[in-house]
Amino acid sequence: MLELAGIGRDFEVGEQTVHALRDVELNVAAGEYLSIMGPSGSGKSTLLNVIGLLDRPTRGRYCLDGTDVTVLDGAARAELRRDKVGFVFQFFHLVPRLTAAENVGLPLVLAGVEPDERRVRVARALERLDLVSRASHRPDQLSGGQRQRVAIARATIMEPRLLLADEPTGNLDRHSGHEVLELIEALHASGLTLLVVTHDPEIGRRAGRRIHVVDGRVEEQVP
Ligand SMILES: Nc1ncnc2c1ncn2[C@@H]1O[C@H](COP(=O)(O)OP(=O)(O)OP(=O)(O)O)[C@@H](O)[C@H]1O
Ligand SMILES: [Mg+2]
Repeated sequence: MLELAGIGRDFEVGEQTVHALRDVELNVAAGEYLSIMGPSGSGKSTLLNVIGLLDRPTRGRYCLDGTDVTVLDGAARAELRRDKVGFVFQFFHLVPRLTAAENVGLPLVLAGVEPDERRVRVARALERLDLVSRASHRPDQLSGGQRQRVAIARATIMEPRLLLADEPTGNLDRHSGHEVLELIEALHASGLTLLVVTHDPEIGRRAGRRIHVVDGRVEEQVP
């Protein structure tokens, strides 16, 4: 499903060039579950952003479902991201002024889905994530675990085949973190390809494959 070959990502900061990713080779088959670990600043988020089409590599070739996405323009990449990729972040990235239901429905609005169908799909998602009683709460009126559940509902409302989570439990207490991880893993069990960045070795061990990122390079951890 994912094929990365010779992927590099440089950031120019003033006179300095940061090599956030170097020569990354990575293939992921549909339905796999990978964890991505490594020290702070090693390039984990950069890797996830490239895979999720939020960022563009400086060099190399990246094929998503057989399409070379490095040659696509911004609009085509955005469309592909919308249809294929769900993203969950450590700090939730919800829209503060919108209710839980509105946040969940936002990708549908952007995709031009009709209001009636939107209502049905949002209601179903809220139910699945046990958020019905919080549908009209704004993010600041929700607990961390609830916010992350809203983010998961939003990330999956377009029924993507790829779910990318960047430290999804990093800002949650143990209990809510566990709950969130179980929800994400249930989505994997239902067929989504799952990549999780984590600092928690206990979470890292749960994945089928473990990737270690050090100084922008990707190494496979053989169990
Ligand atoms: N937009 C940017 N501009 C300049 N440098 C950047 C940018 N984004 C990331 N970097 C640099 O790239 C390197 C990798 O950053 P990245 O965020 O991928 O690390 P990370 O492994 O996710 O770290 P953490 O565990 O702290 O989240 C770092 O040295 C960082 O300073
Ligand atoms: Mg990061």
